[in-house]
Amino acid sequence: MEKISQSVVKKDHAPKISGRSIYVADYPSEGVLCGKILHSKVARARIKGVDVPELPEGYFYVDARDVPGDNNVNIVLDDTPVFCRETVEYIGEPIAMICGPDPAKVEEIRDACIVNYEELEPVLDFRSADEKFFDYNFGHGDVDKAFKEADKVYEEEFETGYQEQGYLETQGMMAEPEEGGRMFVHGSAQCAYYIHGAVKRVLGCDSDGVHILQDVTGGGFGGKEAFPSILGCEVAVAARKCNKPVRCVFDRREDMEYTSKRHPSLCHYKAAVKDGRVTALDIDVKFNAGAYSTLSAVVLQRGIIASPGIYNVPNVRVHGWAVKTNTTPCGAYRGFGGPQTFFAIEMLMDHIAADLGKDSLEFKEAHLVKEGDVTSTNGKYHFPVPVKDMIEEIDKACDYRKKRAEYKKPQSGRYRRGIGMSMYFHGAGFTGSGERDLIKAVAKLRKYKDGRVEVLASNGEIGQGVRTTFPKIVANELDIPLDRVFYDHPDTARVPDSGPTVASRSLMVVGELLRRAAIKLKEQWADGEEQEVEERFKEPDFLIPFYLDKFEGDAYPTYAWAVNAIELEIDTYTGRAKVLGAYGNFDVGTPADYNIVLGQMEGGFLQGIGYASIEKMEYDNKGRIRNNSYSDYLMPTTKDVPNLKCMLHVEKYPEGPYGAKGAGELPLVGATSAYLEAVEQALGGVKLNHAPFTAEDTLAVIEKEGV
Ligand code: MOS
Repeated sequence: MEKISQSVVKKDHAPKISGRSIYVADYPSEGVLCGKILHSKVARARIKGVDVPELPEGYFYVDARDVPGDNNVNIVLDDTPVFCRETVEYIGEPIAMICGPDPAKVEEIRDACIVNYEELEPVLDFRSADEKFFDYNFGHGDVDKAFKEADKVYEEEFETGYQEQGYLETQGMMAEPEEGGRMFVHGSAQCAYYIHGAVKRVLGCDSDGVHILQDVTGGGFGGKEAFPSILGCEVAVAARKCNKPVRCVFDRREDMEYTSKRHPSLCHYKAAVKDGRVTALDIDVKFNAGAYSTLSAVVLQRGIIASPGIYNVPNVRVHGWAVKTNTTPCGAYRGFGGPQTFFAIEMLMDHIAADLGKDSLEFKEAHLVKEGDVTSTNGKYHFPVPVKDMIEEIDKACDYRKKRAEYKKPQSGRYRRGIGMSMYFHGAGFTGSGERDLIKAVAKLRKYKDGRVEVLASNGEIGQGVRTTFPKIVANELDIPLDRVFYDHPDTARVPDSGPTVASRSLMVVGELLRRAAIKLKEQWADGEEQEVEERFKEPDFLIPFYLDKFEGDAYPTYAWAVNAIELEIDTYTGRAKVLGAYGNFDVGTPADYNIVLGQMEGGFLQGIGYASIEKMEYDNKGRIRNNSYSDYLMPTTKDVPNLKCMLHVEKYPEGPYGAKGAGELPLVGATSAYLEAVEQALGGVKLNHAPFTAEDTLAVIEKEGV
């Protein structure tokens, strides 16, 4: 094992495990107003007015009229308001915030507010929704010709549902007016500088007029990429009006119903097959964006880039669109569009293989991309593709081929078994030209007189370990003990903008900047002096530049690869599936810390299994999310997967620190198709095309097919 990979105790382990960490809800309440949001109760309406009860002394009603700057939250497009405009567009949309010292009184006032709605017809069915937020087309080859020349054409539609991040800590932000008029906003978040950009615009002040601190954060998984910008703006506007600190912490139901989750998808695939090979793919990917566009552009881009899977198909045409419905805006969730399209392509390959009388693994292997091949966007796989070896490693770990052949034989009796496999990538880092054109990351190291070194960067610890791995990299290069290097939670007043904590980019991109900075610092090291060094992102030379308008070039510099196998047993009486073994082989390059990376792989894989099997969330015919608690939204616990085996296959990336690539998101992306392939096999070879696939779904198949 490389020296850097040797595991250490996480820097935030002791305070977290002992309960000493201060989360946003833990700051003393003395002098702090409690803010509660008046949410829309209807999916679409014109607001004619709000009858607000008489406010006692010290209580405030805050709405769009109180926004000093622009009533737009800076995300991608300018459509998300801080507080609603003349209309509300989804159930839960913030109309106002009630603030005051006593939470119970605030709630009483909020519940006594009477909103006069002029109800409008909402758009709820995303199958028929056609108002597009984003619409992309790209491809290569001659798709029409390939379809004309095909021996056989396949056409199928795949559907996936919502997935809720289910972080332990709900969304929460706090704003405190400081002397001189500066606004201090802090809370549970992934991207301090995103909030900074959003709040300064909403308050109408310059960059120095506001600073943002990421507090200790109880999980993000993408759910705290954009939403904290919205909530951060709301508390900042409220604090400005009340001229007092204001804190708003969501309860679990609010969080589940009204904050972003994974986009439901509908993927329509057409495939041409000639001489036993897929020669063309014509793909239509539709995401339900919800009421505002928030991060749908980037989620959709990642989803459609991955839509042909990891297969070499010479002719590809892709259309992706994100449509508006009057429902909670969807956003980032670990995997960022990949889980939806990888599910579709993996199931499609499996179904074509079955039709051709081949096993799905053999069929997929015959189509695998390799180093030097062209990507879906006419970029290039610049580095070795280790998937074939990874398949062999999985086969060795769980006897995949043998079990696959055995479970294929007709089964009878109450319990039936199946095993399935998926193979996929996660593009490492930000999609497209974002890193080069938008983020332009800067990271710094500050050495103090006593020889301690501080990491100055804006990437937040969200459980993925950056508070530990960043200092590990620096200590390793400087060859000093790890306890001499530290990384505090980022405050935009103190740290440069090294970009958001997203897209599995932090370690690979910012970690490398820090490694280079440490080399520089070592060269200049002067005992007893305070010193500072800085590194800026530079795009690697080998990249084929990506242009979003043409949707062409290297969407990612490199890829993290994975092969998953899931073995399960179905109880045909209850429909319940028991996972007998989940085997994940992950190539995220060199692990910056073996235990941290393995923990990421296990947690992500388990989230993927939940997405595949039990995590079902829907809205009713009024547009209201029905599954708003952990008793009606099931997530896997440790008890649900007794046998989870993850391994690391290391294919180094020369531009990442010590060969590291993006890691965090990869393990969630491919569980669904491995799981459903296994279910298909246990049910005697049926073809399935939607996820999650619950016990109820299994029973429905059993009833219909007479399995
Ligand atoms: Mo992430 S899903 O890129 O916040």
